[in-house]
Amino acid sequence: MSQLNRQWLLRERPVGMVGPEHFEYAESAIPEPDLAAGQVLIKTLMLGFDPTMRGWLVDEPSYLPPVAIGKPMRASGVGQVVQSSNSQLPTGALVQGMLNWQEYSIGDLARRAAPVLLPQGVPPNLALSIFGNTSITAYFGLLDVGRPKRGETVLVSGAAGATGSVVAQIAKLKGCRVIGIAGGQEKCQWLLQSCKVDAVIDYKDENLEQRIRELCPKGVDLFFDNVGGHTLEAGIENMADFSRIVLCGSIAGYNDEKPQPGPHNLMRLVTRRIRMQGFVVIDYLARASEALEAIGGWVSAGEIVWREDIQEGFENIPATLQRLFDGRNVGKQLLKLADPE
Ligand SMILES: NC(=O)c1ccc[n+]([C@@H]2O[C@H](COP(=O)([O-])OP(=O)(O)OC[C@H]3O[C@@H](n4cnc5c(N)ncnc54)[C@H](OP(=O)(O)O)[C@@H]3O)[C@@H](O)[C@H]2O)c1
Repeated sequence: MSQLNRQWLLRERPVGMVGPEHFEYAESAIPEPDLAAGQVLIKTLMLGFDPTMRGWLVDEPSYLPPVAIGKPMRASGVGQVVQSSNSQLPTGALVQGMLNWQEYSIGDLARRAAPVLLPQGVPPNLALSIFGNTSITAYFGLLDVGRPKRGETVLVSGAAGATGSVVAQIAKLKGCRVIGIAGGQEKCQWLLQSCKVDAVIDYKDENLEQRIRELCPKGVDLFFDNVGGHTLEAGIENMADFSRIVLCGSIAGYNDEKPQPGPHNLMRLVTRRIRMQGFVVIDYLARASEALEAIGGWVSAGEIVWREDIQEGFENIPATLQRLFDGRNVGKQLLKLADPE
């Protein structure tokens, strides 16, 4: 075991695009080896990166408190128990939880959001990608909030990403016609060929609003929006009467220096009787096993595909977060620190 705990602390709250300059490298002593009853010492093996982490840097009320200046950046991850005072999490066990941007952390079963055991045989990367929170988000956001019906036209933005690609494929499995919006030819081809969506729109190269209209002449029945901004406006403009919009995220605005004006066409919600609803996956975590069982079945049957973008190196952690906001990530953004022992 190395003697130092390497960490990335929040140096300052970013205004505009988040970058490595907003974090500060630090080394501290590994947390106290004399563990209290119920505690475990966890070595971080792999970190997951989520666009919502940008929101945790802002000092505003949200579904989680902001990360404090000078504290390790909050992040989900998979780690291995290296010391244990807890019979449920023995030494050597692989666990998942908020491990933060640091090599070692203390897990405490008495605390809320305590680390949980990885299901038997699930490696760290899969626990954070296809069996991770983005898939649970996709499952409940689409099926519980969006409620697609067979034969409906479903539009998905951010469709080549971790959440969007699972949404698009579940909608196909439920018998819908699926249009995916993504940035660049490579991502669009993957959606068509591997995710088997019916049509794609490369928003970086095509007129989004016009292409939605051409591809959905009778209107969109269900729009699963990960992007917000102009993408949301273009979707609203093309919704069918009595359609639904699921607001999952708004990544186009996460790094804006000041809030953009809202969609100019919200009145369409009235005239077309559209229901628009946001949701946060945290509200569904108690039902996660429902989603994971269904997703596990589709994975075993080869009915769902996914991609992982695995960066490496402790020094690259802050720069890896930025990949989500310029679309460099190809699939679920991860960073590997170590292999299990
Ligand atoms: N509500 C919830 O509980 C919940 C939970 C998880 C995630 N989310 C939301 O779901 C969305 C996707 O998250 P994810 O973790 O699955 O990430 P992801 O889609 O794997 O990665 C982010 C993608 O967003 C796209 N993007 C970035 N900036 C953009 C911009 N300015 N305009 C359009 N597209 C942009 C990029 O794809 P392109 O290359 O195609 O542009 C990028 O690859 C985010 O909005 C996130 O906040 C919500």
